[in-house]
Amino acid sequence: MTAAIATAQGVGHTRIHGIGAFRPSRIVTNDEICEHIDSSDEWIRTRSGIIERRFAEPHETVQMMSVEASRKALQRADVDPGQIDCVIVATVSHLLQTPAVATLVAEELGCTPAPAFDISAACAGFCHGVSLASDMIRSGNGKYVLVIGVERLSDITDPTDRGTAFIFADGAGAVVIGPADVEGIGPVVWGADGSKFDLIRQNETWIDVLDMEEPEMPTLRMDGNPVFRWASFEMAKVAREALDRAGMTVDDLDVFVPHQANMRIIDAMARALKLPEHVVIARDIAYQGNTSAASVPLAAAALLESGEAKSGDTALFIAFGAGLSYAAQVVTLP
Ligand code: UT7
Repeated sequence: MTAAIATAQGVGHTRIHGIGAFRPSRIVTNDEICEHIDSSDEWIRTRSGIIERRFAEPHETVQMMSVEASRKALQRADVDPGQIDCVIVATVSHLLQTPAVATLVAEELGCTPAPAFDISAACAGFCHGVSLASDMIRSGNGKYVLVIGVERLSDITDPTDRGTAFIFADGAGAVVIGPADVEGIGPVVWGADGSKFDLIRQNETWIDVLDMEEPEMPTLRMDGNPVFRWASFEMAKVAREALDRAGMTVDDLDVFVPHQANMRIIDAMARALKLPEHVVIARDIAYQGNTSAASVPLAAAALLESGEAKSGDTALFIAFGAGLSYAAQVVTLP
């Protein structure tokens, strides 16, 4: 008789045990951005809410920023690197196609031989990672999982492109996810719409670049206004669904941490959701810009560091971007 395959034994609940952030040292003002594009500090502030952002210095690599953010998250979680059963890195700006940067991050942290891989879901990548990690632990395929959102978008942004040069920035955020006595990570609401693939994308494939007479590094292009409208209207519905699936209403929320894409999108979502006044809204974009996969953990860490949010608070995470792709979940802050 064929032996039956055993089922992995998981846990009932998961939560975020610790969070850490790394913000690059170099502050870049709107005036510096405007040296290369026809724009103004006033236009950038009023249209995006960005006052300044940070660009990584050469030594602040994707690996280095990931390791720094992870060390803080591990320390705050009181989890040793050797206890980590999987390392997931969400990024679109690690410029070596293979192997995954997660393997180097895991090795430098001391997590080897934990499985380590990168995921490419653009700005929504971190929230995808949180869901994957939580499901891994629930299903018994690991106890502690490290999830990192990291970008060096300054490497793949064209400083002369008026549609993107002022918006994108660099940084890293990390969380340690593990088992919990009560639920700390709600059901995910996620999706993708490939019919809108071209709205935010790398302008050329590497093959196209090879065919050019004067090859140029590919950079990001965004058709901002349709993305703006999609995010402002459709994402509020996704956020509401994530609350519904967690069995909550806006009155149960303490904190709202949307992807830091544009301050006007954050305001439009807050209005559409009718967030009560007591809900603290992450507005990290003002000083960090749009850091894609890093934006949600950076913004959540900033609120905890400033004391505006506290451990145990109920937060709604929602992230969206290229794909177009999105993911949202209710979590308990560590
Ligand atoms: O993170 C991934 C997801 N990304 C997002 O969610 C970003 C979504 N999009 C946005 O945040 C906004 O679309 C932008 C901030 C990128 C642009 O704001 P907008 O209100 O959508 O501007 P627009 O593209 O509709 O352009 C409005 C005007 C135009 O001038 P006219 O035709 O009204 O005279 C543009 O030429 O603003 C002009 N414009 C600029 N002016 C100064 C466009 N870019 C610039 C610029 N500086 N950089």
